[in-house]
Amino acid sequence: MEQFEHVFQCSYNDIAQGTIFVLKGCWRENFFHNTNPIVLELGCGKGEYTIEQAKCTPNKNFIGVDIKGARMWTGATEAKDANLSNVAFIRTDIHLLNHFFAENEINEIWITFPDPQMKKVRKRLTATTFLDIYRSVLTDNGTVHLKTDSSFLFQYTSELLKINSLPILYQILDLYKSDIQNITLTIKTYYERQWLARNISIKYLAFSLPKEMKLIEPKIDIPFDDYRSFGRNRRAELKI
Ligand SMILES: C[S@@+](CC[C@H](N)C(=O)[O-])C[C@H]1O[C@@H](n2cnc3c(N)ncnc32)[C@H](O)[C@@H]1O
Repeated sequence: MEQFEHVFQCSYNDIAQGTIFVLKGCWRENFFHNTNPIVLELGCGKGEYTIEQAKCTPNKNFIGVDIKGARMWTGATEAKDANLSNVAFIRTDIHLLNHFFAENEINEIWITFPDPQMKKVRKRLTATTFLDIYRSVLTDNGTVHLKTDSSFLFQYTSELLKINSLPILYQILDLYKSDIQNITLTIKTYYERQWLARNISIKYLAFSLPKEMKLIEPKIDIPFDDYRSFGRNRRAELKI
């Protein structure tokens, strides 16, 4: 990972020592060498959204973020082999986004198949604590996209949007049975292929995130999903 020129890693230790990330506030100028919008994929795993969007949309820059290096290595290798100059990866905890980016540096965020974290609100990637972090780097009213298998996370996020009156752009319960025409939405991640192989419908939410307002958590009980993600062995059996 250290040898890739388009992969960046930074630990809590570096941050505690006051290291300032060199590209913060100047990703376009000093890394991408253009003035194009920057799109993040959070919890990117192998980075399918980062890679496929970068191939189809050369006039945007894409950065995949995940804490797990092994998965990211797959995407980083693919980007290098395909000579994609509009792709980067950051191996870090999403909590640290504002160490890597300045205010308003990001235009759009994709969250692809996160763990729903049904028991721990603070770990859900659409919880208010995370939305506040996203707002600290996103342009005002920037778009956040969520693709998920989880009815729990879809309902939780929908309730959060409703109670905070956040503008909803799309709210689709079964993406592949809907009539939405958007090539980007047909990109399938590693986890998405697993859910589809198990006949679990894919849900999609897109919303705008205004900067200036206090966000509150929804206070309702949501039924838990009655299935869990498979471990590595069961995933291999699916042959996807
Ligand atoms: C279920 S996987 C989905 C991976 C990929 N998006 C896909 O659809 O195949 C969730 C990913 O989110 C990452 N993740 C969860 N919480 C994170 C955090 N706080 N910071 C960085 N990555 C996180 C995990 O490491 C994992 O790779």
